Amino acid sequence: MTKPKVLATRPLFPAAQKILNASCDLEYWTKPERISKEELFKKIKDKEGLVCLLTEKVNAELLNAAPKLRIAANVAVGFDNIDVAACTKRGVAASNTPGVLDETTADFAWTLMMAVGRRLVEGDTLARSGNWTGWDLDQLVGTDIWGKTLGIVGFGRIGRAMARRALGFQMKVIYADAVQAPGAVEKELKAEYRGMNSLLAESDFISLHVPLLPETRGLFDGPRFAKMKPTAYLINTSRGAVIDEAALVHALESGKIAGAALDVFENEPFILPGLKKPNVVLAPHIASASIETRTKMACMAAENVVALLKGKQPANLLNPEVLKAK
Ligand code: DGY
Repeated sequence: MTKPKVLATRPLFPAAQKILNASCDLEYWTKPERISKEELFKKIKDKEGLVCLLTEKVNAELLNAAPKLRIAANVAVGFDNIDVAACTKRGVAASNTPGVLDETTADFAWTLMMAVGRRLVEGDTLARSGNWTGWDLDQLVGTDIWGKTLGIVGFGRIGRAMARRALGFQMKVIYADAVQAPGAVEKELKAEYRGMNSLLAESDFISLHVPLLPETRGLFDGPRFAKMKPTAYLINTSRGAVIDEAALVHALESGKIAGAALDVFENEPFILPGLKKPNVVLAPHIASASIETRTKMACMAAENVVALLKGKQPANLLNPEVLKAK
């Protein structure tokens, strides 16, 4: 029996390969450089499944080049690279990888907060430079994390994982979200609901955990930076475009905020030169990058593909209506 053809735009990890290879005829893009749009469109022509990364755009143009495609499985929880409506229109299932990366991403958001607050990167640079003259009283003094107020924007799974970490640091946790969390969750995490303006005014650290949607694009803009404390720091592990980066540069340069720690950028891999400041910690979109978590994400995407191609509902289907239509 012929197996359905599937394209993976990266070699994935052995555990995910095993899942896919058992029931699909796999083609992996193995070159070190990313697959070009032309190559992708060429290779997708005869494929029923696609395992893609957030760096690939699954839009009407790709779907037109993929007449046999039945599922596009993103190896990421964020799916702003996938035009789900276009997929649905074409009867193509789309899936993501929710849940498995929450704790790992929160760990990294926490790492960024600690790094920027305690000036870790500046300290590392000084320690390696050969210019360190020894302990000094006011050398690289940062700010305390413990006991401060953490403002969490987006109180979903990752936002709540941040709140859980804050308990151990005796922080006050406030959060803003379109929907207030159940009382039991607020109680367990000692988290208080706030409107955005109050959160901006009260927080010492603000950590962003919202998906990129039309209503969250540019959410942190000039007027919002102006409402933050001049001593406050902004942490972003969600999507770069949630921040108006030019406005952030201005806020940093005019002292509207104290600093930022960013894992994501509006036009990755481009990073605005104005963000490359000592009071900004920069990371190349690695918040979920532990071997355990990335392996789970790849396996989850693989399982979504296999399920759909076997006529079952993938666990993380973004557009269940495509199955109902059949
Ligand atoms: C995601 O999953 O959306 C992250 O940005 C990468 O882990």
